[in-house]
Order: sequence, then structure tokens, then C-alpha cells
Amino acid sequence: MKLWGGRFSKNTATIVDEFNASISFDQKLYKHDIIGSIAHAKMLKYSNIITEEEGQKIIKGLEEILKDIEEGKIIFQTAYEDIHMNIEKFLIDRIGETGKKLHTARSRNDQVAVDIRLYLRDEIDEILQKIKKLLNTLILLSKEHISTIMPGYTHLQRAQPITLGYHMMAYFQMFQRDYLRLQDCYKRVNVMPLGAGALAGTTYDTNLEFLKEELGFFEICQNSLDAVSDRDFIIEFISDVSLIMMHLSRFCEELIIWNSAEFNFVELDDAYSTGSSIMPQKKNPDVAELIRGKTGRIYGNLLNILTIMKALPLAYNKDMQEDKIPLFDTIENVSSCIDIFSEMILTMKIKKDVMKKNTKEGFMNATDVADYLVKKGLAFRSAHEIVGKMVLYCVEKDKIIEDLTIEEFEKFSTVFSEDIFEVIKIQNCIESKKSYGSPTRKNVERMIEEGKNFIKRSEK
Ligand code: ARG
Repeated sequence: MKLWGGRFSKNTATIVDEFNASISFDQKLYKHDIIGSIAHAKMLKYSNIITEEEGQKIIKGLEEILKDIEEGKIIFQTAYEDIHMNIEKFLIDRIGETGKKLHTARSRNDQVAVDIRLYLRDEIDEILQKIKKLLNTLILLSKEHISTIMPGYTHLQRAQPITLGYHMMAYFQMFQRDYLRLQDCYKRVNVMPLGAGALAGTTYDTNLEFLKEELGFFEICQNSLDAVSDRDFIIEFISDVSLIMMHLSRFCEELIIWNSAEFNFVELDDAYSTGSSIMPQKKNPDVAELIRGKTGRIYGNLLNILTIMKALPLAYNKDMQEDKIPLFDTIENVSSCIDIFSEMILTMKIKKDVMKKNTKEGFMNATDVADYLVKKGLAFRSAHEIVGKMVLYCVEKDKIIEDLTIEEFEKFSTVFSEDIFEVIKIQNCIESKKSYGSPTRKNVERMIEEGKNFIKRSEK
């Protein structure tokens, strides 16, 4: 018989059992379900709702069940629907009538909410560690490539010269924001829904403060109706992960481009590339493509949970059982993506000479020539026009700005003098930048320093 069988005069159809059950996926929550139940049993005992002896018996039973699950000795059953009722049933089978007291002063509605929160708390901690590893990798690469000159792009057209170190630190900023966002999300996850019961609290003299301390929550949900209806924290988490994935995906897109024969800026390591089943010459950036692809999947998960929740009346509705599918999938995928990505960028070969060579073409110092004219007294728009004409001249003559003689410069403006040749050197184009976030060595060193401090601070 079902744990809720009293009201029913016949069994549910087998097809309904299967349809209704979530044990195939929510068994992932077994540990946190047991942790939550042990804390609940302690509280019931502490508040004299069950006896000391009953409490001990329940706790011991739950601990044994946890061990047996971990040793693979327990087979979950679809007939008991979900992880909560499977464990409760095992407990009753194991310790008898006393086991039936565990569910006093709680409902599966606050139970499932607490399980997800406890589980997600741990997972966020792990993802934060992984992001931190990625941040460290970016600092490492940035230090190594603080002088590696490369083209900076807008519209994927050569724009202004930068360094690879600077480029890496741009991603550092993005992943640092991701880190902070997840940390902030944690605050909303770490609120305790226990005590909410089905929706309107309980009539027992429970001690929620005790439970909160026992389970390490920051606070207790203010309103029980909200406590069991709320899945905002899952939506928030998947949104945050969507941003992480978007950042990884943009980075992957760049790597795919850089790894092409046409760009040839990097070569992904053999261990992070794959071959083609037909074309023997191929070495494909599958890993980077797959991370880019999985980004779509995570966005799908976000839309999935948003849509599940969009029209649900308060409080719990069975629709919410589906929340775990996008949640688990998101956690699994973001974790493996961050891990593999960190390794992939650490092992790739960076072709400094090719990167540098590419800054020679594309008139990447044109803005610097315009700025030169402005400093000699011209208005920026006029300077812009003059340099535009110079570029056109060069294109027609198949030259680069560095090829022009002083006489040719003077044809465009009489204010040009010999000092222009220093200004147009690519290295100087980078180092002459004066603004705070620009790619000069000094600035990138500062970014690295700040980055290291951020990581150190988050260690505490
Ligand atoms: N398996 C359910 C879920 O994941 C647990 C909560 C069930 N509560 C209920 N009243 N049916 O959402």
C-alpha cells in the first residue's frame, strides 16, 4: 500500500505509477533528503514532539539507509514515487512503527524544497571552485602573454592592436562577474523552507531556529505559502549559469576562429581535438563547438523552468516536480564545460608570430595617426577624414601606413613630421594609451594584480 493509501479504495494504475514517479531522476537528492530528515528528527526530539528514544531510532535508521544507498545495496522503487517516499518506506520497513513518526510536522512540499536547496548549495560551492580555477588559468595565460601582440577586432575586422594578455583579462572580468552572481544567488538558495508544511505551517511546537542552525541556513522563509511555491532560486541559478555558458561560448567561438587555417593564431592540443571519419587531414575543435552547442541547451533549460512556473497558482503543484530535470542537467553540463574549457586553453599552442604579423595589416594604427593630428591642433573629424584618405591611398598603392615616406605623409597634411614614425609603431599604439582600462602593460599588470586579490579574497 502507498504511504498515502488510506483515502483510496483501489491502487493507482501501473501506467500512472510510472508517469507520476520522479525517482528515476530525483534519487540524486538521496543524501540531502536524509540530511534534512535527520535534522528534522533531531528537532522533533529536541522539541519533545517525539521521544528521545524514538528520535535515536529514526536517526540511526536513516544513517544506515544512507550507508546502504552509498554501497549500492538499495534499489529504489517506482511504486514509491519519489526519493522522499522511497526513503521513508525503507525507514518504516527497517525500524517499524517509529519510522511512521518521521513525517510529523512536515509535508513533502517543504521537504522537497529543503532537499533542492541543500543540494543546490553544495553544487554552487563546487561550481564556484571551478570558476576560480578558470580565473587562475586566465591569470596564468595573461601573465605569460602580457607582451604578445595581437589584433583587436570589431565586427571581426581588424581594429586596433592589443595583447593576448589583455584579451584574457577581458574574459577574467566576465567570469569574475559570473562568480559574484552565483555567490549572490547562494543567498537566496540558503533560506530554509522547513516548517512550511504543505502550505500553511504546522500546529506543532516546532523549533525552526534549531533546524536552521542544524542545517546551516542563513534564514527561515518568512511566509510558508511562498516557501513551498518558490522556485525562483532555481530560475536565478540557471540564469546565472546561462551567462557563464554565454561567456564560455563566445570564448569558444573565438578559439574556433583562431584555430582555423585562415587565422592560425592558436592550435588546440591533440588531446582536445578530434578527427574526421572521412577526411584524414582533419583536426576539429569539437570540444569548443560542443561547449558552444551546450549553451543552447542551458538556455533551453532556463526557458523550460520559466515556462513550468509561469502560470502556477500557489502553492505546490505537481508541475514543479519537473523542476529537477533542467536543474540537474544544467549543473552537470556547466560543471563539465568549465573543467574541460580550463584545460583546453591551458594546453593550446599560441602562435605569437602569426598574431603579431596580423597586426601589420589592416591599418590598425590609423586611429593613432588621427590622434597624432589632433594633438598637432586639428579637429578630430578633420583628422579622421585625412587619415581615411591616406588609407584609401595605401589600398590603391598596395601599401601599409608604415611604408609611407615623410613626403607622402606631408601630401596629406603639412603638420606631419618625422615623429609620426614612432607613433605608428604597433607596440607604441598599445603603450601610448592613457585611459584606465586600456591594454598597456602597466594596466594589464594592474588587472592581474586585482584579479589575484579577488581570488585571494574569495578563498576566505
Ligand atoms: N516528487 C515531488 C516533487 O519533486 C515531491 C513533492 C510532492 N508533493 C506533493 N504534494 N505531491 O515535486
